[in-house]
Amino acid sequence: MRTSIAAIHRMRAESVRIPMITAYDYTSARIVDRTSIPMILVGDSLGMVVQGRDSTLPVTVDDIVYHTRAVMRGCARPLVVADLPFLSYATPEDALRNAGRLMAEGGAQSVKLEGGAVMAPTIRRLVEAGIPVMGHLGFTPQSVHQIGLRVQGRDVAAARQLVLDALAIQEAGVWGLVLELVPGALAEAITARLRIPTIGIGAGVGCDGEVQVWHDVLGLYDELVPRHTRRFASLADTAVAALDELAGQVRDRSFPTAAQTASMSPEVLTEALADVPGAIRSVSGAGAAPAPGGMP
Ligand code: KIV
Repeated sequence: MRTSIAAIHRMRAESVRIPMITAYDYTSARIVDRTSIPMILVGDSLGMVVQGRDSTLPVTVDDIVYHTRAVMRGCARPLVVADLPFLSYATPEDALRNAGRLMAEGGAQSVKLEGGAVMAPTIRRLVEAGIPVMGHLGFTPQSVHQIGLRVQGRDVAAARQLVLDALAIQEAGVWGLVLELVPGALAEAITARLRIPTIGIGAGVGCDGEVQVWHDVLGLYDELVPRHTRRFASLADTAVAALDELAGQVRDRSFPTAAQTASMSPEVLTEALADVPGAIRSVSGAGAAPAPGGMP
């Protein structure tokens, strides 16, 4: 059964920490489905980690719909939250139309949008229409050119504003809140003042949960690991080694073997090739006899 928002709220009430992971396709969603992680974010971080862009800004609603559909096909258990991309919620009407697409066409159970008190009317409009909304405060990647890629809320005014923003969007109806790159003590203070779960990323252990990006935690990049993340596997290294082994076996002819090769009756082949014109090239080692148990 799919995890509900009510179940996530119960986790918070029972002080059970809430892990969340991004996923962008069918295969990764199937993997998450086998874990105990209760929430997937189809994040607009896909602009960087899937599409190779410099920021999340070029990601479109069509992109998120496409990836959310694929994720939904791959998992039956986690709650799936889809990001509203840059400028797709500039007005409440835009937000309603585009969030509706992420839910109806993509199949998401909730949308997420970035911004504080200024987003309250938009959040209200969505919630009134029956669309669950998650908020996102602190470093908000869609505003990277305005605020820079840095920890937010470090001075008195900014810290106070973050608390006020969190309270304002909670009042507007968000059911949960991502806090990104916020000092740990401030994230904890915000969490203590809210009724809804906070999910941190670079915001410390004082949040109710933690969201991380798939490619970061699984080691799919060679680049430096950002401070707010930790590598739990080195899948890129594993993949490089596996692909080099494949390449070597292709070159030395140890792969494919008869087990991966379909067989046919030699008589049929002889008859099929009789009188067929064309020069014959010697292919050393080709045509290995089928092994017992090989492909029929
Ligand atoms: O798009 C994303 O992956 C996100 C997380 C970093 C929270 O918004």
